Amino acid sequence: MRGFERQVEEMMLANQANWDQRTPIHLASSFYGVDGSRPAESWFAEYEWGDLGELDGVDLLHLQCHLGVETVALARRGARVVGLDISGESVVQARSVANRHGVDIEYVQGNVYDALDVLGGRTFDRIYTGKGALCYLPDLDVWADVVSRLLRPGGSFYVVEFHPLLYALGVVPPADGSQELVLRNDFLSGRGAEKRDATYTYTDGPPLTEARVAYEWRHEVAAVVNALVGAGLVIERLRETAKLPWPRWQGMVQDDDGWFRLPDEAPRIPLLYAVSARRPLE
Ligand SMILES: C[S@@+](CC[C@H](N)C(=O)[O-])C[C@H]1O[C@@H](n2cnc3c(N)ncnc32)[C@H](O)[C@@H]1O
Repeated sequence: MRGFERQVEEMMLANQANWDQRTPIHLASSFYGVDGSRPAESWFAEYEWGDLGELDGVDLLHLQCHLGVETVALARRGARVVGLDISGESVVQARSVANRHGVDIEYVQGNVYDALDVLGGRTFDRIYTGKGALCYLPDLDVWADVVSRLLRPGGSFYVVEFHPLLYALGVVPPADGSQELVLRNDFLSGRGAEKRDATYTYTDGPPLTEARVAYEWRHEVAAVVNALVGAGLVIERLRETAKLPWPRWQGMVQDDDGWFRLPDEAPRIPLLYAVSARRPLE
């Protein structure tokens, strides 16, 4: 891996083992709905399709693709898609999910930081990543440099992530049985790796029996934008939006588009953000 301290490499290896263990649980859960109970397209908001633009015939790389749910939706739009993930178990299952959906997707196992080597120097018109991906990356400057090198001149990058405010908020159950969101965790980065007990993953299903530790890194929106700018990409759009593709907290309201928001009486806060960036033509 590109110049990481041994300790950080070991953390990423621990995450790889943890994601291998989470994979069968996620596959069996109703959260992702890979049995067909939830359309793959429902993981994208309408504005994301607009931001991604025409995908027919485009060479697209999905970084940190996990079970390949979003990857399937991208392929169905006509893109020639490659999915990359550090978890070998995820890659194996993503292949069978793609087969079940009858879409042709190439999956590659590898660390994002090794993607240039793992993909043999191939480059892409579009790169997509996000929705729980960047928190597993210790260094955004190195990441952005990899992304920039994987893009063809004129190619575009789209990252959609959970807003740092979402991570910063925790739930307090008041005496009346309702719940309140309060600032509980860091909003800004700077404390290094967070060691998390990942015995229970975020989907339904049983606890993990091994590799129950995961490491996460907080990244504020400014750090993402500045890393991309530092890697020579031009930022074309930044969005902050109030809806999520799944209900993070009790009491969230599901809209007609299937996405979830806080109830009307709650403060309007961002829960997701999206950055569109482009590698300039040379
Ligand atoms: C929450 S999933 C995000 C993908 C997608 N939005 C989803 O929800 O399925 C996070 C994925 O990142 C992968 N991952 C974590 N660290 C990685 C790394 N350094 N390189 C490549 N993949 C990594 C994990 O294996 C996991 O599949």
